[in-house]
Amino acid sequence: MCRFKDNSVLFYLLLFSCLVTSYTTPPILSEKDIIKLVIEKQSARELQLSSRKRKYELSKQESISNFTVQPEVIPEFFDARNKWPKCKSLHKVRNHKMCGAGWAFAAAATMSDRLCIQSDGQLNVELSPQELISCCADCGGCGTGNSLKAWQFWVDKGLVTGGDYDGSVEGCKPYLESTAHYREIPVCNEGCADNYNTSYQEDKYFGKDFYTIKKNVSQTQIDIMTNGPVQAGLEVYEDFFKYKRGVYRHNAASKHVGYTHVKLLGWGVQRNVPYWLAVTTWGSEFGGLSGFFKILRGKNEAGIEANVVAGQAQIVRSPSSTTSATSFPVCFYSIRSISIMMRVSWGAFIVTIGSIFFSLFSMTKKRVNFYQRPS
Ligand SMILES: *[C@@H]1O[C@H](CO)[C@@H](O)[C@H](O)[C@H]1NC(C)=O
Ligand SMILES: *[C@@H]1O[C@H](CO)[C@@H](O)[C@H](O)[C@H]1NC(C)=O
Ligand SMILES: *[C@@H]1O[C@H](CO)[C@@H](O)[C@H](O)[C@H]1NC(C)=O
Repeated sequence: MCRFKDNSVLFYLLLFSCLVTSYTTPPILSEKDIIKLVIEKQSARELQLSSRKRKYELSKQESISNFTVQPEVIPEFFDARNKWPKCKSLHKVRNHKMCGAGWAFAAAATMSDRLCIQSDGQLNVELSPQELISCCADCGGCGTGNSLKAWQFWVDKGLVTGGDYDGSVEGCKPYLESTAHYREIPVCNEGCADNYNTSYQEDKYFGKDFYTIKKNVSQTQIDIMTNGPVQAGLEVYEDFFKYKRGVYRHNAASKHVGYTHVKLLGWGVQRNVPYWLAVTTWGSEFGGLSGFFKILRGKNEAGIEANVVAGQAQIVRSPSSTTSATSFPVCFYSIRSISIMMRVSWGAFIVTIGSIFFSLFSMTKKRVNFYQRPS
């Protein structure tokens, strides 16, 4: 009887010390781990808001490795539309109409193609030339513009989505010009069209970097094959307006009338003449190939090889938008309580082990007593 009492005192002492140990044990998760978990959880939540971006995130490793692989052989014929058929912007012919912002249209079209290609078809959107026209203050406007600055803007500020025409329900920032000249270029508005239900920040897609390729045919071809179409400049001679089909080469007698921006999406050889496959930003009414055209390749015809610009799409969303102050404490405290729960269960585990040892110990003692009793 007396011995049992001693044992129970021992048991409570053990239990007490276990609880004290569990309370003073350092948390299983350090503060740093907690913060890390919170950020991971937060970005996962943000990505969930937009499943296309989330899916993209999951497959980014795969897409990165695919587009850094460089093909060893340049084929005789190549058409980006056949290689990446699901990217809708590759099939589209942009139309800047009366505001001659070809620089913005060719840039937005090339960026959209590359975003789709480099995301393995998961970010299949049309980026907004209107945002370049309105929001990139030093890019240019109707008439002329600097395509390098447009690519820089994509890297720094990102572009929202937006279709071509006034009143279009496509995207956050559809093109506002329809048939008349803008009276003045619309001011930059950091918001989306009324009928668009994704937030402006949520709708931004960023570039990772950009570069130029100067008069290097094979380098341009390799870049198109691996990363997608490139933007190029084109000197416009009067005879270009009469283009129907075949490989364009300007007539030396034809008058130089201006400069435009196009997209190169492939190449080939027709009747022994090598050509680039390109598309204007003048709508599908241009020429006899629904807005597409072929131009002599390898001779810098009309400056087509002199100012090639391209870049890579950013895979993750902008870091500044991955955490928001409002939901941070909620996550923090929920993870905090998980950590406390883990401490408590660690304590319970020690108590269980302790009591097992305790009962084994007392059983041994009892057995000893039993054998001792007869003597
Ligand atoms: C990317 O690479 C993976 C594995 O190497 C392959 O399964 C996938 O089809 C490739 N995607 C494209 C678009 O080539
Ligand atoms: C956004 O609008 C589309 C149709 O316009 C609708 O199907 C979709 O549920 C809306 N999404 C949200 C988050 O309101
Ligand atoms: C074109 O680019 C390739 C690959 O970057 C390079 O090896 C080659 O020397 C360049 N050719 C010229 C003429 O610059």
